Amino acid sequence: MLKFFRSSANQRLIGRLLSESFRQHAPAYGIAILAMLVVAAMTGASAWIMRDVTNEFVLTKDIEKIYIIAGAVAGIFITKGLATYIQALFLSRAGNSIIAERQRKIYDRILEHGIEFYHSYSSSDLIIRLTQSAQAARTVVDVLVTSFVRDLFSLLGLVAVMVIQQPAMSLFAFVVGPIAIFLVQRLLKRARRYMEMQFLSVSKIVQVMQETVFGVRIVKSFNLESTMRSQMNTAVTDLQHRANSIAAIEAVTSPIMETLAGIAIAGVILVSGYMIVQGGYSPGSIMSFITALLLAYEPAKRLARTRVALETGMVGVRMMYEISDRPLSLEEAPDAKPLKKGPGEIRFEDVSFSYRDDEAVLSQLNLVFPAGQMTALVGTSGGGKSTVMNLIMRLYDPDSGRVLFDGEDIKHTTLHSLRDRISYVSQDTFLFSDTILYNIRMGRQDATDEEVIEAAKAANAHEFIMATPEGYQTQIGENGVFLSGGQRQRLSIARAMLRRSQVLLLDEATSALDAESEALFRDALEHLKEGRTTIAIAHRLSTVHQANNIIVMEAGKAIEQGTHKELLKRENGAYRKLYDFQLMP
Ligand SMILES: Nc1ncnc2c1ncn2[C@@H]1O[C@H](COP(=O)(O)OP(=O)(O)O)[C@@H](O)[C@H]1O
Ligand SMILES: [Mg+2]
Repeated sequence: MLKFFRSSANQRLIGRLLSESFRQHAPAYGIAILAMLVVAAMTGASAWIMRDVTNEFVLTKDIEKIYIIAGAVAGIFITKGLATYIQALFLSRAGNSIIAERQRKIYDRILEHGIEFYHSYSSSDLIIRLTQSAQAARTVVDVLVTSFVRDLFSLLGLVAVMVIQQPAMSLFAFVVGPIAIFLVQRLLKRARRYMEMQFLSVSKIVQVMQETVFGVRIVKSFNLESTMRSQMNTAVTDLQHRANSIAAIEAVTSPIMETLAGIAIAGVILVSGYMIVQGGYSPGSIMSFITALLLAYEPAKRLARTRVALETGMVGVRMMYEISDRPLSLEEAPDAKPLKKGPGEIRFEDVSFSYRDDEAVLSQLNLVFPAGQMTALVGTSGGGKSTVMNLIMRLYDPDSGRVLFDGEDIKHTTLHSLRDRISYVSQDTFLFSDTILYNIRMGRQDATDEEVIEAAKAANAHEFIMATPEGYQTQIGENGVFLSGGQRQRLSIARAMLRRSQVLLLDEATSALDAESEALFRDALEHLKEGRTTIAIAHRLSTVHQANNIIVMEAGKAIEQGTHKELLKRENGAYRKLYDFQLMP
């Protein structure tokens, strides 16, 4: 166990955990520790009193004294019971608040991160970290406190009783004890590796489960059940094997300890019996010694296991700190100011960007999205259109160049004020697992019910909403599974409309709509784009038609710009080709 603390990495983590989690709860832990000291003292006392019990029974046979002793024994155990209760209660309370606190902290930190972070961890991994790591932090603190206070002091108390009662025989116990502990420790060392891997297996199980739920249509229609089953099977079997390996190690330690302890006790009985019968020793002190020896077994066993418990917990603690120490990929400037009120012009100045180091997605892009006008972005897929929107919302920072909002570099404005100016309809709709009303209101949380309905009408969603069993109060399931693709898209349009912001970003917002709904949306957009800076990525000619300006993007560059008429005139132009082959009427 000392080795555990000799590692400076462990020391640092423990130190950090204690200063972040233990200090705040110092009063609760203080009470628990005091109670533990009482438990330890009472454990020692219960062994000590065995001397008097035996001597009074066997030697003096004084009934008065027996009353006193019986009273004392009752007193010892009542005190111990109370102290055990107080200790358990305060330890759990402090522990539970550590878990709550950690979970809040981890989640806050995760929320603070930019999109890039979310792509580096799988959702199942983050779920496991949020739930298990916080639990692990509590376990580590719990183990430290119980081992080093309750168990250690109980053991010390009992050893003191043993030494005082029978110094010579104590020597014998002190030789056997450490040997047993040494053996157990060697075995437990192996457990650590398995425990780290156990975390990973759990995360894999969650991942397979999630994919099955989200992708159930694909899983069923592609007959992927057996593939998914075998993936789950691998993950579950993995976990099972690891749990078995850990169990095998743990299972063998107990009998080893037990057997050694039994042999030691048999030896002690032999020696002490010999001393009482042949040497005329008082049986009282020997009884007290044997009791102390028996009582010492439990705390000694737990102390020997402290290291494994700590190692297990530390796996989680390490994972937790990995998340909270990860530098933010996208941060607000320390002197960031709210975006000033302005007409709402967006400009790209020599913007280059790549998601990964080697592949340029946008190269030296110069674009202007004039205030209050509608610009259409068209082009083959993968050309970087959605990326332009990502940069406008500052979900990523450009590698070079600037994105300007009314002339201000958005790197120097607060993220909140920037995003407050923007309504966004994403290419893949996302809805929350709640009611229709809740989902639309996410666009602007202080909107009245009337305003929500108005937005739904504008998005041509009101009619289908009223046809659902509970109207606006209908639950739509996880990511809106109870709705059709077009209905989901209309809800996400309504959500964006309710926001009534200055800038409207539509990323293929009508891709899932039928011709009629699309036509209705086009009419709605006619009103909506009035006075707003609108950027629409579109494959439909009808939407593109409405734009004041069309930008054709290919391979991260704006290769053509102009109105529909102007661009059509270019015989071999890119827009002309798109028009002929791609744009839908
Ligand atoms: N999160 C991402 N990580 C890495 N590459 C990405 C990511 N998102 C998009 N890309 C890549 O960037 C390029 C441009 O994508 P995108 O802007 O979505 O194109 P468009 O919207 O024009 O179809 C594509 O080659 C795509 O593979
Ligand atoms: Mg796209």
